[in-house]
Amino acid sequence: MTFNREPDPFEELISAEAIARRVEELGAQITQDYGEVGDTDVVLLGVLKGSVLFLSDLARQIALPITMDFIGVASYGDATVSSGIVRITQDLSKPIEGKHVIVVEDIVDTGHTVHYLLENLATRRPASLKLCSLLHKPERCEREVVIDYLGFTIPNKFVVGYGLDVAQRWRNLPFIGYVAEP
Ligand code: IMP
Ligand code: MG
Repeated sequence: MTFNREPDPFEELISAEAIARRVEELGAQITQDYGEVGDTDVVLLGVLKGSVLFLSDLARQIALPITMDFIGVASYGDATVSSGIVRITQDLSKPIEGKHVIVVEDIVDTGHTVHYLLENLATRRPASLKLCSLLHKPERCEREVVIDYLGFTIPNKFVVGYGLDVAQRWRNLPFIGYVAEP
């Protein structure tokens, strides 16, 4: 398929093939780590909307019975600078008490969003709570966050594609790219 993305202002940072390979590895690792956990007790918890493409590919690489749920958070508006203020815009559909929860994020940037989210979710008494993030930008870290399952560490560039957006656009690019310097 030729993807119509003209004019194309992006440099490829991580190819679709490299993403697929890494997602397969993460899925295998999760399958191994949660193999002893009972049926229907593992919840993949996607953070809307950036994690949706990653979560749907990752779920198919986990050879265990899992359920999925989603939470919506807003921290940025449509700007590209973190405010440090996080709010829940859409809550989970079910309680997570007693469940083994894997939070699935697109990117840990300053760390504010995930820090807030993990603190909030911990109060709901899950059996365990882990974080899986496709990307990490350590240069921007303002909050120390432990990422249990990490796809890729990236440089301090604003990236789009494979779920990540600028002002809601470019989420459906099959690769991860950044805006090229002129
Ligand atoms: P944090 O709270 O600064 O860690 O930011 C987390 C959220 O900001 C992510 O879930 C993304 O939605 C968004 N974000 C941070 N960096 C990028 C980027 O490079 N491209 C697209 N979205 C980003
Ligand atoms: Mg996000």
